[in-house]
Amino acid sequence: MAKLTLRDLDVRGKRVLVRVDFNVPTEVRGGKVRVTDDTRIRETLPTINYLREHGAKTILMSHLGRPKGKPVEKYSLRPIGEYLYSLIHHPVIFSHDTIGDVPKKIVNHMENGDVALLENVRFQPGEEANDPEFAKALAELGDLYVNDAFGAAHRAHASTAGITKFVEKSAMGLLMEKELKHLRDGLQNPAKPFVVILGGAKVSDKIGVLKALMENANTILIGGAMANTFLKAEGIPVGASRVESDKVGLARELLELAKQRDVKFLVPIDVVEADEIRPGANMRNTSRLSPQHGITDGWQTVDIGAATIALYQEEIARGETILWNGPMGVFEIPEFGEGTIAIAEAMAQSGAKTIIGGGDSVTAVKQAGLSAKMTFISTGGGATLELLEGKELPGVAALSDRK
Ligand code: 3PG
Repeated sequence: MAKLTLRDLDVRGKRVLVRVDFNVPTEVRGGKVRVTDDTRIRETLPTINYLREHGAKTILMSHLGRPKGKPVEKYSLRPIGEYLYSLIHHPVIFSHDTIGDVPKKIVNHMENGDVALLENVRFQPGEEANDPEFAKALAELGDLYVNDAFGAAHRAHASTAGITKFVEKSAMGLLMEKELKHLRDGLQNPAKPFVVILGGAKVSDKIGVLKALMENANTILIGGAMANTFLKAEGIPVGASRVESDKVGLARELLELAKQRDVKFLVPIDVVEADEIRPGANMRNTSRLSPQHGITDGWQTVDIGAATIALYQEEIARGETILWNGPMGVFEIPEFGEGTIAIAEAMAQSGAKTIIGGGDSVTAVKQAGLSAKMTFISTGGGATLELLEGKELPGVAALSDRK
């Protein structure tokens, strides 16, 4: 069922509660908490600016980190509010309490166009418990509710789901709309060939995604440590590489399923192996992998190899829609990042519709300076994977239906 969007609401003069995902990476420098990647904050600016331009009183709510229901200073949203001020050039009124008299007084004194930010919703035990009392206390601070926190939409928490029961209308924000458009609607009928690149540490994290994507992908390219489990399933010795031994059977089933579905399912034909996972370790490209020639005993895979890069580049060049989630190797160590960067570059040059499905691949694309060349980069992590699996996100399901 289609949901209301921000544009369906009459927001002028209204107090609009907006759930955003300001769960951004931070570091402490010179005694101050600083934002190290502001993508998620910037991506909510269209919604915040829309509300300001349309004369709403915007009350932002978010979580930061996992403070487990009590105040933890390093997870305070105050520095994030200061950062937001530097982006919107308008004061961001900070409420050091999330619910109660302090925020009530603030919201009742706001002028049209003003912006307020409540303290971290996860400082309250009722947030993750989706406690109706807490959801109601939040709802009392506004007239309307907008969920723009795509990154947290897979959580059924008070500020992402429960709150909708206590407001007259709830709608998705502009970022939420954009994420769903690209990751859900856009991938239902992708232009073909549809090429999916999946990497990362574990097969177990991606089983649902793999099965769902096999429905309409033409080609699936596997990299990262999860490739080891597939190599082992093909009888290739993997040395000391990280393998999910209990998932080898499942990897075999997935390879079989790909055959049945006529999906071209490629695993690395060579890899970069190293004797340790650290900068400066001994490393080399293996020869072509086979049951007779695998990874050297005691060594482990750290990246896809040169022949695999060439093979994957060819497949990517053929694609009309390309979706990527998960790095090809231990790309945090630059010597082991060649395969990951090569994938980013091949996508950027492909001319295809390119979608980066959240997490570490986003970091890799940014490091390579290629963000502007991609069609869409998701702000989600877990939420993106759940959406790609075809699951319903509680933060979306709870919103008002469009009649
Ligand atoms: C994320 O970073 O994926 C979201 O903000 C959700 O955070 P969580 O995994 O702590 O719920």
